Amino acid sequence: MILAPSLLSSDFARLADEVRRVEEAGADWHHVDVMDGHFVPNMTIGPPVVKALSQVAQKPLDVHLMIEHPARWIEAYAKAGAHAITFHAEAVDGLDGAREALAACRAHGVQVSGIALNPDTPLEPWEPLLPELDMVLVMSVFPGFGGQSFLAHTLEKTRRLRALGYAGFVEMDGGLNQETLPACAEAGADVLVSGSAVFGAPDLAERISTFRAAAEAAAATSAR
Ligand code: DX5
Ligand code: ZN
Repeated sequence: MILAPSLLSSDFARLADEVRRVEEAGADWHHVDVMDGHFVPNMTIGPPVVKALSQVAQKPLDVHLMIEHPARWIEAYAKAGAHAITFHAEAVDGLDGAREALAACRAHGVQVSGIALNPDTPLEPWEPLLPELDMVLVMSVFPGFGGQSFLAHTLEKTRRLRALGYAGFVEMDGGLNQETLPACAEAGADVLVSGSAVFGAPDLAERISTFRAAAEAAAATSAR
């Protein structure tokens, strides 16, 4: 089980301290939310900040691109130090567009490349791509902001991925907390992103270890 706290909910004025603090608390990956003000109605960070993060982070950077034309930007994020890059299905031109972005990930040495699906984006049209994907990000909120409520109908997409035999990472992102995270793990997710519920905790280490125990227990009881 990989717990990937989202730095979106950290203190941006103290990013290096926040990276160290969440690593000491037990984070496995850092989830980095990149927004361009076009694909989503918010703007966050770009390649220079990812590069700065990579210089202080000991744990992998999981870069979630919520941007238009992702294939044009993958080289910059790869060179900035992204370990994983996920781009949105809604931002590329069908399977060919997705393959172009995946090829850019491979060409620039990205170790984990994946596609993200918005809550209302069906999985079926993207199923032919599954053998080429290291990770599928099942969004459990509409991207753009932290602190939104979990959309439970998205669990069905995670279940379907595992029912199809998909063996890559399945990441869920948005509204994960003590109540919703076990259902994600039970459905088959193995990368769990949480922003506000981790960085809003009075004790980060306690929160991450509680989440990990809850996720592992739920995964163990699931029929996978
Ligand atoms: C939403 C981002 C998420 C967000 C999660 O657009 O992709 O990664 O930071 O935050 P919470 O856990 O607060 O929903
Ligand atoms: Zn995200």
